[in-house]
Amino acid sequence: MTRRRVAVFISGGGSNMVSLLDDMAREGHAGMPCVVLANSEDAGGLARAAEQGVPTAVVDHRPFAGDRTAFEAAISAALQPYAPDMICLAGFMRKLTGGFTDQWAGRMLNIHPSLLPKYKGLNTHARALEAGDSLHGCTVHEVTAELDDGPLLGQARVPVLAQDTAETLAARVLVQEHLLYPAVLRRFAAGNREMLILQS
Ligand code: GAR
Repeated sequence: MTRRRVAVFISGGGSNMVSLLDDMAREGHAGMPCVVLANSEDAGGLARAAEQGVPTAVVDHRPFAGDRTAFEAAISAALQPYAPDMICLAGFMRKLTGGFTDQWAGRMLNIHPSLLPKYKGLNTHARALEAGDSLHGCTVHEVTAELDDGPLLGQARVPVLAQDTAETLAARVLVQEHLLYPAVLRRFAAGNREMLILQS
């Protein structure tokens, strides 16, 4: 089996990235990590990727202030030596333009902490609480030029509890993210794009 080379993009602690790497290390996975790329050298996940023997790259967005196209050209150049077949955004907190997402159409996934199409963007947990939702969760989807849009590949549903704060809810959703994203990537890398629903 030729395994698909997966680049994982992070901005922070990279707990989702670790869950993807851990699963790709298990038997029978059609994907293998080729590089973990961060937009800041402060991203805690870089050390965790290196510990697992995965190459890392940093393209700091700050010198590109406002020039997303140049930032994305630098990302493409940084990726080139690793020849990825696909990209997983895992807590990558920079918006990508259509120029980049079109190049990776059908080959780039993202995890978002809400039941899309609800609550695109930031502060998803607080917004779900504010709306009085009884069900919240997370979504893995294909990335398109629209933020937090694109075909849905999987969702994990998390009941909202009466005493929940944004923090307690986020923590329970994150547990599900760590189950959902590897499960979707495993199927996707093997060519299965059917929607996966996890219920907690
Ligand atoms: C995760 O909750 C992920 O869903 C979210 O950032 C967190 C990253 O945590 N992503 C987004 O909000 C993207 N729109 P991690 O670095 O520990 O994986």
